[in-house]
Amino acid sequence: MIVEIGSWKGKSTVCLGLGSQAGNGVPVYAIDPHADYRFGDFKTNVERAGIAELVRPIASLSQPAADTFDQPIALLFVDGSHEYDLVLEDFEKWVPKVVDGGWVAFHDTTWTAGPRKVVAQAVYRSRRFKDARFVVGSTTVARKVLHNTFADRARNRYVLGVKTAFWLGSSALKNQRRLLPEPVERLGRRVLKAIQ
Ligand SMILES: C[S@@+](CC[C@H](N)C(=O)[O-])C[C@H]1O[C@@H](n2cnc3c(N)ncnc32)[C@H](O)[C@@H]1O
Repeated sequence: MIVEIGSWKGKSTVCLGLGSQAGNGVPVYAIDPHADYRFGDFKTNVERAGIAELVRPIASLSQPAADTFDQPIALLFVDGSHEYDLVLEDFEKWVPKVVDGGWVAFHDTTWTAGPRKVVAQAVYRSRRFKDARFVVGSTTVARKVLHNTFADRARNRYVLGVKTAFWLGSSALKNQRRLLPEPVERLGRRVLKAIQ
């Protein structure tokens, strides 16, 4: 199973659904209050992408939804509330349902304090994750394991260091209202990929 927390109009749902369709065709549970005024857009986008039969919307906040969800999760994507306490609650309630060897992905973990703090303490510094990395500048992904090794922990800490340096550097540029030229940004993205 794939679980998505926070669907909005379905952009990430479509990415997850297309990934599932190309792979094992597992269902994607899309958890969001799915407010009436945008659920129409969500449905249209999911149908247009040809993945409607894989997507199971759950109209709820993610924290209470965890109490009744009892299926093993292979990939958990978290992009719901960005408040520290609620992201932490998502972590505490949903990550135990992810199978060992499964993946977690948390969106907005660079410039947004809530998710950044949760992944720093509960993913990068944890004994339960390996292969932690951040992609496209802000999404932290990691594989859940029963116990990570010393080498896994050292690697996760190293990536956290790279991520923190990236965050501080990019925030300093933002504060000076400076934009990097596109080729420099592209090169930066490549370097980030190569060093983590
Ligand atoms: C940043 S948007 C998600 C964007 C979406 N993942 C995408 O790629 O387009 C955040 C979404 O989380 C939902 N949300 C906010 N708090 C939530 C909660 N506690 N549980 C579930 N969803 C929540 C909001 O309704 C909103 O649709």
